[in-house]
Amino acid sequence: MTDRYHEDLRPGEGLCPPRADVGSDAATLSLDGPWRFHLAPTVDAVTGGFADPGFDDRSWDTLAVPAHWQLHGYGAPAYTNVRYPFPVDPPHVPDENPTGEYRRVFDRPAGWPAGPAVIRFEGVDSCYKVWLNGEELGHAKGSRLPAEFAVGGLLRPGRNVLAVRVHQWSSGSYLEDQDMWWLSGIFRTVRLLARPEGGLGDVFVHATYDHVTGQGTVSVDTDVPARLTIAELGLVDVDAAGPHAVDRVDPWSAETPRLYTARLETGTEGADIRIGFRTVALADGRWTVNGTPVSLRGVNRHEWDPDAGRAVPVAVMRQDLLMMKQHNLNAVRTSHYPPAPEFLELCDELGLWVVDECDLETHGFAVTGWHGNPSDDPRWAPSFVDRARRMVERDKNHPSVIAWSLGNEAGTGRNLAAMAHWIRDRDPSRMIHYEGDRDSGYTDCYSRMYASVDEVATIGRGEEPPTRDPAADAHRRSLPFILCEYAHAMGNGPGGLAEYQRLFDTYPRCQGGFVWEWIDHGIRQPVPGGEGHYFAYGGDFGEPLHDGNFVADGLVFPDRTPSPGLLELKKVSAPVRLSVDPALAEVQVTNKYDFRDTSHLAYDWTVQEQGVTLTEGRLTVPVAAAGAQVTGRLPELPAAGADTWLTVRARLAQDEPWAPMGHEIAWTQVRLPARAQPAPGKIRHPVRTDDSGRVLVGAARFDPRTGLLLSLDGHVPGQDGRAQPGDHPDLLVTGPRLDLWRAPTDNDAPPRDVRDAVASDWRRIGLDRLQHRVIDLGADGDTFVVRTRVAPAATDLGILATYCWTAADDGVTLSVATEPIGAWSGVLPRLGLHLAVPADLDVVEWLGDGPGEAYADSRQAVRFGRYRLRVDEMQTPYVHPQENGNRTGVRWARITAPDGTGLEMTGRPTFELTARRWTSADLAAARHPYELKPSDRVHLNVDLGQNGLGSASCGPGVLPQYQLAADRAYTFEVEFRRLGPTAPAPAPAPAPAPAPAPGD
Ligand code: GAL
Repeated sequence: MTDRYHEDLRPGEGLCPPRADVGSDAATLSLDGPWRFHLAPTVDAVTGGFADPGFDDRSWDTLAVPAHWQLHGYGAPAYTNVRYPFPVDPPHVPDENPTGEYRRVFDRPAGWPAGPAVIRFEGVDSCYKVWLNGEELGHAKGSRLPAEFAVGGLLRPGRNVLAVRVHQWSSGSYLEDQDMWWLSGIFRTVRLLARPEGGLGDVFVHATYDHVTGQGTVSVDTDVPARLTIAELGLVDVDAAGPHAVDRVDPWSAETPRLYTARLETGTEGADIRIGFRTVALADGRWTVNGTPVSLRGVNRHEWDPDAGRAVPVAVMRQDLLMMKQHNLNAVRTSHYPPAPEFLELCDELGLWVVDECDLETHGFAVTGWHGNPSDDPRWAPSFVDRARRMVERDKNHPSVIAWSLGNEAGTGRNLAAMAHWIRDRDPSRMIHYEGDRDSGYTDCYSRMYASVDEVATIGRGEEPPTRDPAADAHRRSLPFILCEYAHAMGNGPGGLAEYQRLFDTYPRCQGGFVWEWIDHGIRQPVPGGEGHYFAYGGDFGEPLHDGNFVADGLVFPDRTPSPGLLELKKVSAPVRLSVDPALAEVQVTNKYDFRDTSHLAYDWTVQEQGVTLTEGRLTVPVAAAGAQVTGRLPELPAAGADTWLTVRARLAQDEPWAPMGHEIAWTQVRLPARAQPAPGKIRHPVRTDDSGRVLVGAARFDPRTGLLLSLDGHVPGQDGRAQPGDHPDLLVTGPRLDLWRAPTDNDAPPRDVRDAVASDWRRIGLDRLQHRVIDLGADGDTFVVRTRVAPAATDLGILATYCWTAADDGVTLSVATEPIGAWSGVLPRLGLHLAVPADLDVVEWLGDGPGEAYADSRQAVRFGRYRLRVDEMQTPYVHPQENGNRTGVRWARITAPDGTGLEMTGRPTFELTARRWTSADLAAARHPYELKPSDRVHLNVDLGQNGLGSASCGPGVLPQYQLAADRAYTFEVEFRRLGPTAPAPAPAPAPAPAPAPGD
């Protein structure tokens, strides 16, 4: 039996004082790579003597460091959001405490200097004890914080044996209840570092910028006197302690991340460090950098890789940051722990504002009414302050870090205040953030998560209700407001991003926020009994307690494919806004950067008619200073026909470190007023009956009893979709009939009970199982009218749906009118038609918004054009299947087989469209994408519209203006036309050469 250090309240034992990790040229040896590994199921089953240098580990397995053992076949990942996966019995943890035993034999490199050395661990989850050559060095907790153990005298020439015992659970686990997978092991890098006598020790760089004079000042604290050289600034071999004022420096900002290379020397140790000059201050109630209030267009980032978990490769960290920059984001909250140190180096280099968050969350105590919360228990104070200290000491030299965050969802209490006091004392040069401190008593902002648009507006105006203590209230009102989390990006969503951005633009007090969250934490797994892979979520590893797919709530999919939500965020976050007034032939450019002018941008314009480019060119626009607005003149535009749109874009005029020249930053689109067109003469086709009693309306034929469409242009469908004897089997259409159902999104059906969970109402009413009854039908002049009642079983609620069919040129026009029967309330999922065509009709071309999916409250990122995609390409593979792939503003769409056979649908004026190889019911039933099996149909939803998306999976529902109210009447109109194999149909309007479409 081991001693119970893993269950005591000490943050660790035997650790060196925390310090900054600078790129010193003292000797370094990476201990990453293959280690010997054995997993004991309980603490008491550990291997005696495993740390002895002579221990025979040949029968043990090999495990890579850094890695999580659960992702390499030992134990299994487990996901909970709030709940602890063990009894709340602090500081104790279950006896069943998987314990990894690690051994690494290494040779001290030739030429390794005599004298002190440390072994540095950057991250080990969750508690570990360390031995070198059989001697115990100490133990540590704080999974995502560094720890150093002094080893100098123990290091031997030649062979050395490092042994580490890692417990999955510890008292530290009570402080690490972040909403993520529970994963254990040595998951960040391990190094042996020589620490020369008279070396730098800790290094604290103070580099400030005076925005009034342009002067920079630098001083560097080191443990022993050191010399500093910044050649570029003319500082050569000066006393590092300074301070040294430099008349003109280029300041660091996220928009202009200017770094200077500095050299520090003590005689026994030297280091190259990168310095950014900038001054962070709370001024006039705003977070300012270099005298300017900053707008945070941020995202919460957990460390995640679908194969490696939180052992994220540096190349992947860089990819995250490049993608953020390319999507117009400028800030990261490192939810909910300090990231791997390389990540902050990259933020310094590429330019992001960072809120560096401490490894602290005790959310599971919410389940017990916060009873016994460590945050307010003095016995835990040393652990809290230790965590703050290890974060600040490690990260204090990064210019990108503008705020320290005490942690997340740890309730309130004295220990949090103690962290804040320690931090303020050590580093007064940054802001302090903590959302749980509602009075902002010890923080520098009023921070909230998931506040609604209305509430944020109230706060923006400074009209929020007072807190209990008038002094605290006055203080909080003097602080900026930050949404540390908003717009929960789970599944299809979030909707309503534009409204939040408008708040940030309108109210100076609202300094922006951080969307929740960057990435879906799916784990890549082979498809059971099949080919390919899928992304697992909570419950997929048989966890007895789990929170399902709540772990998949990111703006990028687990493999980092951008979701439509990220594209939407990019559009609304654009740092320049373009607006066009075609009447004045002017383009207005508003520079929303805080520091940068627009000289790095180039502009162009395109005029497209029906998605086909008529003319295009470059645009000269004067440079706009940060915050300024300028006007550019458009050339004379061609006379516009129907659906002629002008698009203006701002793109990078040169390569940036984060994107190549030509990368698009912003765009706007405006419809040009069309020249008058002669109204098409109306052809009259009386309703007739054929020899078999079928109803004929132009090219369409109907069942005289059911009123259902049987064939179009002689091609006969059956309602069961099967070919009838003698029918033309090339265009089997099921429907069209009224349909209201969509596979609930994660926001419609949140994984936990929330107020705005609309899908439970939908299912209760039965919108997923509608039945149809014909009330009456017959000819009314040249219109065939079919009146039906559409309703679910067991309710008297219903919809009166009237279908009016009239002949169109060589097709048929359907006008649908719906009227609610009974006391409807709330919203409908969608309102439209369902129809199905044979599976070989699998290419969709449309004129409308695209190329991606869009919904009422998430359609900023799509633009009008002509697009062409295969049905499979129209699906968005959300980790948990749900409604997706909707195309909005569709003027017309054609779905065709390779031989050109197909169906054309034209909106009056537009419709929304989904096309998929399965039904909405199949989609709703699937738990993972691989469960969706293509059928022999393509199912089309041709809709008036859908309810918006909202973000009720954790936050507010759909805003009223985007709701599809259930208690009102609707009408919409679509024309159907059959496309034959021999005569490919012309476009419905004058159609020049086919437009290039994405995917071509
Ligand atoms: C917040 C929490 C996050 C995450 C989110 C929901 O309350 O801070 O960690 O759980 O909700 O996804």
